[in-house]
Amino acid sequence: MTRHSRQRRDTPVTHILGNRYHSVRSRTERLAAPLSPEDMVVQSMPDASPAKWHMAHTTWFFETFLLAPNVPDYKPFDPTFGYLFNSYYEAVGPRHPRPQRGLMTRPGVDQVRAYRKYVDEHMATLLLAGLTDEMSGLVELGLAHEEQHQELLLMDILHLFSLSSLKPAYDPGWPKDTCGRRGQFKPLGAGLAQMGHGGTGFAFDNEGPRHTTYLQSFEISDRLVTNGEWLSFIADGGYHTAALWLSEGWSLIQEQGWNAPLYWQHDENGWKRMSLRGLEDIDPAAPVTHISYFEAAAFALWTDARLPTEAEWEAAARAGLLEQVDDVAWQWTQSGYSAYPGFKPSVGAVGEYNGKFMVNQMVLRGGASVTSPDHSRVTYRNFFPTDKRWMVAGLRLARDSRQPGMVNPQDSEFARDVIAGLSGPTKTLSPKYFYDAAGSDLFEAICQTPEYYPTKAETGLLRNIAAQIAASIPQGAALVEFGSGASEKTRLVLDAAPHIDVYVPIDISATALNKAAKSLRQQYPNLVVAPQVDDFTRVLTLPEQAKGHTRVGFFPGSTIGNFTQDEAAQFLRSAHQVLGKNAQFIVGVDMVKQAHTLVAAYDDAEGVTARFNKNLLTRINRELGANFNVDAFSHLALWNAEQARMEMHLVSQVEQVVDVAGNRFHFAAGERLHTENSHKFTVQSFTELAARAGWSVSQCWVSEAPEVALFRLQA
Ligand code: AVI
Repeated sequence: MTRHSRQRRDTPVTHILGNRYHSVRSRTERLAAPLSPEDMVVQSMPDASPAKWHMAHTTWFFETFLLAPNVPDYKPFDPTFGYLFNSYYEAVGPRHPRPQRGLMTRPGVDQVRAYRKYVDEHMATLLLAGLTDEMSGLVELGLAHEEQHQELLLMDILHLFSLSSLKPAYDPGWPKDTCGRRGQFKPLGAGLAQMGHGGTGFAFDNEGPRHTTYLQSFEISDRLVTNGEWLSFIADGGYHTAALWLSEGWSLIQEQGWNAPLYWQHDENGWKRMSLRGLEDIDPAAPVTHISYFEAAAFALWTDARLPTEAEWEAAARAGLLEQVDDVAWQWTQSGYSAYPGFKPSVGAVGEYNGKFMVNQMVLRGGASVTSPDHSRVTYRNFFPTDKRWMVAGLRLARDSRQPGMVNPQDSEFARDVIAGLSGPTKTLSPKYFYDAAGSDLFEAICQTPEYYPTKAETGLLRNIAAQIAASIPQGAALVEFGSGASEKTRLVLDAAPHIDVYVPIDISATALNKAAKSLRQQYPNLVVAPQVDDFTRVLTLPEQAKGHTRVGFFPGSTIGNFTQDEAAQFLRSAHQVLGKNAQFIVGVDMVKQAHTLVAAYDDAEGVTARFNKNLLTRINRELGANFNVDAFSHLALWNAEQARMEMHLVSQVEQVVDVAGNRFHFAAGERLHTENSHKFTVQSFTELAARAGWSVSQCWVSEAPEVALFRLQA
């Protein structure tokens, strides 16, 4: 310390500090104002503290580090408070055990308020008398400390209120998070970058020294991950897929039964979340919050991305690439919390502020809706253990820049199919691309609509005839299901035919397959379940476990209707080959019927099918960087009697140009984009189709109206 810095100065700087002191301290009072004395005493978990304790502890900081050493003959407000309100400063002495802060009914809230007033009065005198540089630094630190506790006070109250059956609002008018469009990846080139606090102005000791670091080229999302994206992660079995999780995180979610962010709850009307406004619907466009590091990392892996390092985050923020920087949620980084090169903790007891926590925690950057105004900086390093979720933490994604040789999504089969489909004289897209996570959920929802009869009719039919199907399945057979999904209908066959030895579900979604296999193994302990991740239209061989068993193919759901006649014949032919000699094949198809029943099934009153159809454009926007204006297209379902098929189209409402993966496509007003055919059959037309592929029909069961059929084909 220089001699100069020991001199007390009464300058405009100390007046500014005095004003800031007043404004921070009174903000704490305002934040506590909506709370009752009872709200302020309870500690909802060891990590949280009662509001009353936060108010007293922040005051203790000024009394201990500024008043006691600098005010001659200072008399502490209450000599017991040093013990009660010391948080973790070993150098200051012993303290009340942290997990028992909620047992402090004394001092009461009024006494804590009197304590604050007493300390504020003495601080006012001290500030007026002028401060040394060291004292000014401590006042700054005490105010930044109090702002941190303001945030903790809100976090802790939310946790407490979330456990109340009444789900009270802390403040019904608490502002909502900024939402809007999803994030887009922004590139940043490789090179040397400066990071950490170096200039003037306050910063915590852990933010320095400023130093140089090398960054590989990378991409970072300009916005935070949304609740809508998180819902897709949940729907895709994210919380049930071990491969996405760090081992410790996987054990944790099993132990705790986590299947959603903290404060989310599910009932018959869907997901809701607890917020400072009370219990509310989830806004899919708002950023997801209250997730642990483990959840953030699993989500990132699920999207084939990763979390940014803190150096990447800081470089991108300095470059002005980021939105939602410090006003919504702290953002997990993949950087462990440790010292920067050359770090030295501050001198004295306040050296315990940050340095001693530099292990077993990860850094979060940015700032949150609950963070005090002006508290965050681009160099700010927040930190929490990997399993904590009560702080307002979210994530933004990053990924390595694509290297030569890596597959660019724009060169994928999906991109090629979409570009080819939009380039022809009539624009088409393949219905197989409907089924991303959101599309699969929407299809499930379609099956629940009153108008969409095929699922209900086929399940009813299968239930009635399961015994007849079972009777003709040979002892010890292997049941092979094409496009098995959750294997729901299969259970009707397995229940009726306990003599089936092996079940081979084939599906493109590993998540769906693993989940179904796990539950089937539990439910049918004698059955060998041998899942195969594959595009079922291209499968050439079956797993070892199916060898030596007579095979029975199973293809319910009338999906065959979504193929062209040639594709359907080709699929039946290759299934014939895979299933082998003496095989049977149970195939579900939808039958020709009155147009109004068909059209209603593909244009339900609630608009679920319309959303399903339009989701294809949303998927192309997301995965291929396209710019379809989804609202400028409308859903059309029509019966094409000549081709015996239902057709779905998206009709351009205006003349427009759309960019897809570097190609431009023109749409005239009223132009149609053909997205799906769903062929309907008669007994005769399906018998003829099967015959083209070498199958003969040995039995056909047709349901009551609206008719669907199950055919048993014999090789
Ligand atoms: C999956 N497939 C049999 C459904 C069908 O009926 O063609 C897909 C569907 N399209 C609109 N509604 C449902």
